[in-house]
Amino acid sequence: MAQLWGGRFTKETDQLVYNFNASISFDQKFYKQDINGSIAHATMLGETGIITKEEADKIIEGLKGILSDVEEGKLEISPKYEDIHSFVEATLIDRIGDTGKKLHTGRSRNDQVALDMRLYTRDEVVAIKDLLKELMTTLHNLMKDNLDTYMPGFTHLQKAQPVTFAHHVGAYMEMFKRDFDRLSDIYDRMNYCPLGAGALAGTTYPLDRKLTADLLGFYGPTLNSMDSVSDRDYVIELLSALSTICMHLSRFSEEIIIWNSNEYQFIELDDSYSTGSSIMPQKKNPDIAELVRGKTGRVYGALVSILTTMKGIPLAYNKDMQEDKELTFDAIDTVKGCIALFNGMISTMKLNKENMKVSAMKGFTNATDAADYLVKNGVPFRDAHGIIGQLVLYCIDNGKAIEELSIDELQKISPVFKDDIYDAISLKTCVEKRNTIGAPGPEAMKQVIEINEEFLKNI
Ligand code: ARG
Repeated sequence: MAQLWGGRFTKETDQLVYNFNASISFDQKFYKQDINGSIAHATMLGETGIITKEEADKIIEGLKGILSDVEEGKLEISPKYEDIHSFVEATLIDRIGDTGKKLHTGRSRNDQVALDMRLYTRDEVVAIKDLLKELMTTLHNLMKDNLDTYMPGFTHLQKAQPVTFAHHVGAYMEMFKRDFDRLSDIYDRMNYCPLGAGALAGTTYPLDRKLTADLLGFYGPTLNSMDSVSDRDYVIELLSALSTICMHLSRFSEEIIIWNSNEYQFIELDDSYSTGSSIMPQKKNPDIAELVRGKTGRVYGALVSILTTMKGIPLAYNKDMQEDKELTFDAIDTVKGCIALFNGMISTMKLNKENMKVSAMKGFTNATDAADYLVKNGVPFRDAHGIIGQLVLYCIDNGKAIEELSIDELQKISPVFKDDIYDAISLKTCVEKRNTIGAPGPEAMKQVIEINEEFLKNI
């Protein structure tokens, strides 16, 4: 056991208590942020004259040595310390002697951990944005390549109207664009430096909080010391955004699974992204899509967990907040894995365009267009809807598609039908005439693709 706070105690901590309380097993994940935060703090202490320049330099050099030794595997983060902060400080004192004891001047572990967690999540927000950008680039290319890849669009998982693969994928593109922007918003809101808040009430040392904030790339210092040490809403916002990303990935995964099924065969997942069965030799399973869908529950769990942990905590710092770390780290790693794997999976899958097209032609996906044809020829929409309803029933009874009926059969149901009906309800017309912005028609899609091109260029 190695603790920073033994002075007031006459008895050793119970071993079980020590183990229950310690956080080094997980907070070692932000050793880099802890050391960089300490370097900024020491620099500021030196600049303000709270410690001498020489002392600051010695501390900074010592901290840099610890960082590079940990990174190069020369120094192991020992579990005998209570947390990463104790490990770094104790190692520093070991290495540079008494000067190291000055590092913690004007600082508490409460503002230190608040800083570390913010620095860590801030770095991860950037990393997740990068992964989303890669995923969106894949979707963008799929959109550009599939403007005329027809497929059925569904409502209630029933064939509804024809769309294109570009348009379907474009729906997810919009979702991920919003997810990306959400992360940028969160970054902007969280990017304020809590260091200098002390335990909860600031400090009597003349700290230059603005300097520390500048050194660490923050927009400025936080404005209330009690809030600074007890705010975790940036974690909650992040987990909420990650949950939304997972929800989107999960819906997409569900569709991939359906499209890849023996019944649909719209796509075929690459062998490198599929798995087999130990008993059924014919199987090629979409495990990656299923795992992405499944891991969504775990990320939601993290969100609900931290919301519940935070809801009853009085100001300011309480140890409950130590619970923010494991679940946040796990959610971040999970989401990063999901985005990367999902991207690999959809970049390598094969599209069975012919199957998609054949499917789009079945199931009366052109029924609305047939009704619109009647409307354009003077029939009120409600009547047209009824006529096409009868027509569909006739087709079902006779095992035919609308376009397979002869003009005589069509005219028996409504004399308004003329020869140009066949062109009006062809798959091509059904898709290509839908050109208001946001619709699947190629002209509309090209405009959206251009907007997306700009979006990707500017992020
Ligand atoms: N491990 C603690 C945490 O994660 C660090 C802060 C400790 N502060 C304290 N007053 N015990 O929250």
